Parts: sequence; structure tokens; C-alpha cells
Amino acid sequence: MLSEHTISTVQLTIPALEEHGVTLTSRFYERMFEYNPEVMPFFNPANQKAGRQQKALAAAIVAYAKNIENLEVLTNAVELISQKHVSLMVKREHYPIVGSNLLGAISDVLGEAATDDVLTAWGEAYNFLADILATREEAIVSDNLKLNGGWSGFKDFTVSKKREESSVITSFYLTPVDGKDLPDFLPGQYITLRLPTAEGSTTMRNYSLSDSPNRDHFRISVKREDGIDGPHTKGHASNLLHSEITQGDTIEVGPPCGEFFLDDQDDTNEIVLLAGGVGITPLYAMLKTELASERKRPVAFIHACLNPNTQAFKSEIDALEKSHTRLTTHNRYSDIRSEILAEGTSSGFVDVDLIQRSCNILAAKFYICGPSGFMSAMEDILLTSGVSADQIRSEAFGPKT
Ligand SMILES: Cc1cc2nc3c(=O)[nH]c(=O)nc-3n(C[C@H](O)[C@H](O)[C@H](O)COP(=O)(O)OP(=O)(O)OC[C@H]3O[C@@H](n4cnc5c(N)ncnc54)[C@H](O)[C@@H]3O)c2cc1C
Ligand code: HEM
Repeated sequence: MLSEHTISTVQLTIPALEEHGVTLTSRFYERMFEYNPEVMPFFNPANQKAGRQQKALAAAIVAYAKNIENLEVLTNAVELISQKHVSLMVKREHYPIVGSNLLGAISDVLGEAATDDVLTAWGEAYNFLADILATREEAIVSDNLKLNGGWSGFKDFTVSKKREESSVITSFYLTPVDGKDLPDFLPGQYITLRLPTAEGSTTMRNYSLSDSPNRDHFRISVKREDGIDGPHTKGHASNLLHSEITQGDTIEVGPPCGEFFLDDQDDTNEIVLLAGGVGITPLYAMLKTELASERKRPVAFIHACLNPNTQAFKSEIDALEKSHTRLTTHNRYSDIRSEILAEGTSSGFVDVDLIQRSCNILAAKFYICGPSGFMSAMEDILLTSGVSADQIRSEAFGPKT
């Protein structure tokens, strides 16, 4: 337990953390990559460059300080962070590295305000949080290992098939080299690929599983990130997968993780799956799993994307709608001429009218995945329409800032 004195000293730093949080975490990453370059391969350089890691960590530190006396509030955040850490193979032994660089950054950024008392209090508070995270992470690893076919660390898979789903999205079917069964994952979860970099190091990326669980293969569906600011900004992993990795290649895969999954306990409410672009991947796994179950609840599937050329899984979802009366679907295209729209299709952005026509908005459970702008627009629409936060679950394809 933390002492009263530690708690009150940490609480006194809240205004400074709110003011300088991102400066502090930016300094933290600078220090850590200078003093402990061995942890660099854990971190996605594009998220670093865009400042998303810095913002997510700053928000987590402020939230911790504000709720230090009421840590139950942070249960969902602890689960999200722990699942992410496990997916990227973060271990208990890495925590002292982060801890010492964080204290160093507090000292650098807060200057004279970082008294010995403040540094001691933050040292204790950090160790307390680190233990909560590391303990949960060890439990997740151990639960993964107990599953039939479960494993820890990276395991070799063969790319058994590549299939173009649209002009920008390709699916990869991954089969374990050892021929063992694959574990049941929760539809919505993601796996991790560890891939080589041009500099001779490695980098990791998460990809949602885009098919329902089965024993012999995983499927991921990857959008090629072309890089709008010139060829040097092309996405590393997605271009490697699209252009260089071919059928028969071996690839390193970490076990399924993640806290965004279909709630199969709650059988009463209808569900609405709101997909933006390639954010369809976890939602399509949920949709297939849901429809294959005995449940009877209505399902609405709304896919927002640029146009039919870039859209994945449309014909499969149309077929599911024909064979399942409880499913209704709608495609909303933001880059299309309205005169060529087919039934179940409209142009523009997803708005409150479309959502209200698709479900009983106050009773439904919403699952959202897509680009950050799409997700915040959907959350705004729902919350301002009276939907409660616990009716909404979402997955971000990057740190939650
Ligand atoms: C839980 C989770 C699930 C995911 N599931 C999927 C999925 O199912 N399908 C999928 O396609 N993706 C998914 N992603 C995203 C995926 O992990 C990768 O982030 C994505 O493939 C891009 O990786 P990349 O290496 O190609 O791009 P990166 O090299 O990481 O670049 C990312 C972005 O930054 C831009 N960029 C890169 N370098 C620069 C630079 N120097 N200057 C300016 N801009 C730059 C790129 O153009 C690109 O848009 C998921 C992510 C998470 C966290
Ligand atoms: C108490 C200590 C820590 C806290 C509070 C913390 C917090 C966070 C948060 C908030 C995220 C973003 C989660 C998301 O939205 O996806 C994150 C991601 C991450 N963390 Fe930690 N973390 C801690 C320790 C560590 C350690 C010890 C490591 C290992 C070196 C680590 C490596 C990572 C990595 C690699 C990511 C993903 C970054 C990305 O997606 O770009 N973290 N962490």
C-alpha cells in the first residue's frame, strides 16, 4: 500500500503534470532511447513521430495521479495497457528501465519543483503501478498458455495464402509451422507480427484477426499505407506485407491479445457494428462469430469507406445478410457519385439518422473500429444522442490518446 504522505505528494504534482504532461513524456522517450536503446524495437516509430505514444502515456500518468486513491476506476485502462504490453512482449524486467527514465524526465522537466520528496513519492507510486501492470500481464501470459494450442513469445507461421480483398486491402492466411492447433481467440482480438527493418533490427505491429476462430489458420487483412507525404512516408510493415512477403514465407507471430471483443454473455440487446475503412477487420470476425451462434439478437452492420473499390468483404457481408434475417447492413461511401448507388448504400458520412434507422439507439450495444476521426465522430454522435458510455466499445489502431 502507498503511504498517505506518498499519495498526497503525488496529488500535489497533478497541476504540473496536467500542464507539462506531454513535455514530460517526450523527454522520457528521448532519455530512454538514449540510455536504453535496447527497448527501441518495442515502440512503433510512426506513433512516436506523430506524438501518439507521448500523449497516451501522459494521459495515463495524469489519470493515475488523479485516481490514486480510487484505482478501480482505472480497471479498463489497466486491462487495455496490459493486453497491449503482453502483445508486444513487455516483461516485468523492463519496468525499472521505464521507471528510472520517467523519474529522470520528471527531474529534467519540473526542475526545482522536483524535490527529493516528490521524486521519492513518484518512485514509490511508479513501482506500485508497475507491479499492478506486470502482475496482470503475467496472468494474461499464463492464461494464454493454458489454452489448447496457446503459446507465449513469437512463433513461426507460414503465409499459406494471400488474397486481395480490395484495391488497398489484402488478406494473409497464417498457418503455424509446427502444425499444432490454434487457440480459440475472442472475436475482435489482434495478433502481433515481428518484422525486419531496413536497419537490420525488428519492429512489431498489431493486426486484428479478420475471421472467426478456427483450428488451423489465422487471417489478418492489411491496408497498404501509401504515405501521402512522399515515398519516405510509406508504411513500413504494410508495404513489406503487400509487396515483399509472399505465399510460403515464414513470419513471426505473437498470440492473440486485446480487450475489444464481442460480449457473448449479454443476449438481450441488439448489437451495432460500426466500421470505418480497414477498421472492418475485428468487426467482421465478430459478425461471423455472432451469426454462427444460436443467439437471436438483431445485428446492424454499418461500413463507412471511401468507395466500393477500397471496400473489403462486401460480397461476403451481402451474402450473410441474405442468409440471416437478423442482420441488416448499410454501406456509406464518402467518395462516390450518388447516381451510381445501389440499395443499402448511400453517400456521405455516417450520421445520427442512419444509426437511428438501423437500431433502437438507447438499447443497442455499439462496437466501433476505424480511423481516429471516424471513432470520435461516432462516439460524439452516440453520446449526444443519450447512449451511455457502457453501451460503447471501441478499438483504436494505435495508442488511445
Ligand atoms: C490493435 C490494432 C489492430 C490493428 N489491426 C489492423 C488491421 O486489421 N489491418 C490493418 O491494416 N492495420 C491494423 N492495425 C494498424 C497496424 O498495426 C499498422 O499500424 C499499420 O499497418 C501501419 O503500419 P506500417 O508499418 O505500414 O506503417 P508505419 O510505418 O507504422 O506508418 C504509419 C503511418 O504513418 C505514416 N508515416 C510513416 N512514416 C512517416 C514519416 N516519416 N512522416 C510522415 N508520416 C509517416 C505512414 O504513411 C502511415 O500512414 C492495427 C493496429 C492496432 C494497434
Ligand atoms: C507503469 C508503467 C507503464 C505505463 C503507465 C504504461 C502506459 C502505456 C500506455 C497508456 C500505452 C498506450 C496503450 C494504448 O492505448 O494502446 C502503452 C503502450 C505501450 N507501452 Fe507502456 N506503460 C508502462 C510501462 C511500459 C514498459 C515497461 C514498456 C517496455 C519497454 C512499455 C512499452 C509499451 C509499448 C511498446 C507500447 C505500445 C506503443 C505503441 O503502440 O506505439 N510500457 N503503455
